[in-house]
Amino acid sequence: MIQRETIGRSATAYSKYAWRRLTWNSPNNSADGNIMDRSGDSLPHIVNLADMRRQAWRRLPRMVFDFIDGGAEDEVTLRRNRRQFEDIALEHRVFVDVQDVDTGVDLFGHRYDLPFGISPTGLAGLAWPGAELLLADAAWGRNIPVCLSSVSSVTLEDVALRNAHPKWFQLYIFKDRQLSRELMERAWNSGYKVLFITADCAVGGNRERDPRNDFTLPLKISARTVLDFLTHPHWLMQVAFCGAPKPVNMVEAALRAAAGQSAQGLVQFMNDQLDPSVEWDTVAEFVRDWPGDVVIKGVLSREDACRSEQVGASGIVVSNHGGRQLDGATSVLRLLPEIRASVSDGFQVFCDGGFRRGADIVKALALGADTILMGRNTLYGVGGAGLSGATKVIDILADELVRTLKLMGVSRVRDISVDQLVRL
Ligand SMILES: Cc1cc2nc3c(=O)[nH]c(=O)nc-3n(C[C@H](O)[C@H](O)[C@H](O)COP(=O)(O)O)c2cc1C
Repeated sequence: MIQRETIGRSATAYSKYAWRRLTWNSPNNSADGNIMDRSGDSLPHIVNLADMRRQAWRRLPRMVFDFIDGGAEDEVTLRRNRRQFEDIALEHRVFVDVQDVDTGVDLFGHRYDLPFGISPTGLAGLAWPGAELLLADAAWGRNIPVCLSSVSSVTLEDVALRNAHPKWFQLYIFKDRQLSRELMERAWNSGYKVLFITADCAVGGNRERDPRNDFTLPLKISARTVLDFLTHPHWLMQVAFCGAPKPVNMVEAALRAAAGQSAQGLVQFMNDQLDPSVEWDTVAEFVRDWPGDVVIKGVLSREDACRSEQVGASGIVVSNHGGRQLDGATSVLRLLPEIRASVSDGFQVFCDGGFRRGADIVKALALGADTILMGRNTLYGVGGAGLSGATKVIDILADELVRTLKLMGVSRVRDISVDQLVRL
């Protein structure tokens, strides 16, 4: 069981990595983690998420854009995630009072303003220095949930210090169980209340864009990458100022395991830590030892949904990891109704993968999801324009969602029903 007394220990152990981040994230520092943010500019030329993705493509080196944008192998699942919405049509009802639309949802004791949030994304700092802080600011500024990846480029303590909003943390059950337990302990002691345990990473996905672009961490100097960096000077200047991102939560453990190794050893260490031998009884132990709510992320079958509930989790994310893991995996919408039907009413069913429009969100809610999560969208936002970009993404989605609900004649998000969907 996690004890609160360990707060001091984790804070001290990681302060060495925190100090530099804090200097440029301090509210008194003009940079404030927003180095070269085009804030104030409301990005009028960006009207939808496809525009924001293009903006990110323009600003980021190809290797970074592809790391975010890409999927595994032939990217069949990645494409399927977008196509899944096409053969579901919406049926509208007319002459319903939709002047005011209630989009709020209750999750783990907190009322959020919108039925969507931000999925955990590792090394988001590649897109913008301190990106995890900006994602937290954007999410909490609009009162939507955000889950921090254990592979974040800002320490979990720094993100926790940012403000008093409810906090969610994502965990891998690593080969080195002690490392996972330490992360869990640090997260609880820093105030995170909801733990996402990622289930669909027995091994790393085979993302073929990365080796083609010479993508490694630390960033590799080759003819290809130098050209890539030099043609993206805005991003390059940020890296020159702030340094290349690292999975800072794990630095100490990696150095302990591979004393004196370079950061290359550090990233290798992280990949090697994915454990293909984890079984449900281990998951049950982690669920038991986390005092708050646990969500199992990466469930794609009725059996695993039921199993998640049996081991004591409070919810699941129906997810194929955004098409980044098992290529050929099914899309989430196909499975949602049967998964929803197989678990209890109060069990939270999240889903993610390919949501780019407010109408996509409405479809998944109608099929049984409680809340939708999204990984790439806000990374395109933060990669394209920092905090203003991430906030703009949330605003576009909120606007589309409300308009879709009004046009469908639905005044409360919880009233969306499968009766208003037609399978084509
Ligand atoms: C760049 C990137 C990094 C990711 N890192 C993590 C991670 O550290 N942990 C995790 O559970 N999922 C991770 N994911 C998966 C997301 O949490 C989420 O499942 C996926 O992005 C959803 O698909 P979408 O991007 O189409 O919304 C990552 C996704 C991306 C794009």
